[in-house]
Amino acid sequence: MNSSVDARREAARVLARVDAQQAHAARLLDGAPPLTRELVMVVLRWQLTLDHVLQAVTHRPLSLVHPAVRACLRMGLAEARFLRTPPAVAVAEAVRVCKVLLPKAAGLVNASLRRAVQQPWPSQEEEGTPLWLRYSHPPWLVERWQRRLPENLLRQALASAQQPAPLCLLAGVSQLPAGVEASPHPFVPGVLVVTKGGSQAAQACAGGKAYAMDPTAVAVARLLPRGQRLLELAAAPGGKSLVVGLEQADSLRVALDLRVGRVRLLARAVRLLTSPPRVLVGDARRPPLRRHSFHAVLLDAPCSGTGTLRRHPEIRWRLTSRHIAELAQLQQELLASAVDLTAPGGHVLYATCSLEPEENEEVVQRLGLPVSPIAFQLPPNLPRLELSSGGVLIPPGPWGDGFVVHLLGPLP
Ligand SMILES: C[S@@+](CC[C@H](N)C(=O)[O-])C[C@H]1O[C@@H](n2cnc3c(N)ncnc32)[C@H](O)[C@@H]1O
Repeated sequence: MNSSVDARREAARVLARVDAQQAHAARLLDGAPPLTRELVMVVLRWQLTLDHVLQAVTHRPLSLVHPAVRACLRMGLAEARFLRTPPAVAVAEAVRVCKVLLPKAAGLVNASLRRAVQQPWPSQEEEGTPLWLRYSHPPWLVERWQRRLPENLLRQALASAQQPAPLCLLAGVSQLPAGVEASPHPFVPGVLVVTKGGSQAAQACAGGKAYAMDPTAVAVARLLPRGQRLLELAAAPGGKSLVVGLEQADSLRVALDLRVGRVRLLARAVRLLTSPPRVLVGDARRPPLRRHSFHAVLLDAPCSGTGTLRRHPEIRWRLTSRHIAELAQLQQELLASAVDLTAPGGHVLYATCSLEPEENEEVVQRLGLPVSPIAFQLPPNLPRLELSSGGVLIPPGPWGDGFVVHLLGPLP
């Protein structure tokens, strides 16, 4: 058995777990071979369009097929369509993997895939092809974003979610190893886009010599007002703590997160700073900290992550309105706590990487506190929409992830 067969079998196994057990692809892909990663991500990004093509040639509804078989079907078609593998080889490999995982379904996979690879792919150019099919997003999410984003930004958001995110490094804490080439991000200063030597750069990040970070996240962290005592709630894995630590090295800083495993990542990340924050494990709703004791608090809240679909493509297939409502409740409690920890006259920077109003302006508006303008402080060319709540929405696109940010304050 050669290594590429192993990589495909691993991809099918990961896909079946993501599909049937709601597992997180990024976690299962930690340390996986590059081909496994590529296949899993391309299938998760294009799942809806792949299923549309597969369903046209498969008699049984795909939803009733065993998850391992669904994984083999999607993987075979995705490999034929998006990787440089000849279609006949992609089909043969998917059939071989199916023989290992569920031998009795190999005939179905063979027959369906042979026909599927001959089918036309929904046209990318033709305006009649609905956006959800063209860009493989759930129709309900496209409808939501149509209400939220102008046409050009909507299309860029959908198209960028179908591409892998380039590896970007936070310049102030990253050493470039030999063989790595990088250029400054076009919009966000202090971010380097790796153009050559991606695997060496990724190794440098794994070895604690560099830090990979989304450019928009860097721009958002820089919006935290200056202050002598700063707090970051929900701080792990620590990207924004690094930016704040670089920008405001002379301040007293505390960074807190709930989950011990993630706090370990945070503690490791802040070792890159010359003056790291104090790191705490705790629930930000009941923090072990004195009320009204910080000049500025950054709350980068847990959220649905709809601004990060290019990194976490499976989010779009499992998110529900109930999930969004549950997150909004948690966010409300976290924001109330952040406000309580802030001194009179101070500010709370509330950010999420969700584009959904329930998790952003609706949470902020329920508190009835002043909101200060913030959009003008973003890098001038970074696309943004100013919201009627006083916040700013940075749409996802080729420049980086999507975020919504509100600056509450000065607080009474
Ligand atoms: C969006 S991430 C934060 C990313 C981080 N600010 C950064 O830039 O690397 C949200 C974090 O909220 C944490 N979290 C969730 N519920 C929490 C709670 N009740 N108290 C504190 N942290 C919480 C999660 O563990 C997760 O690390």
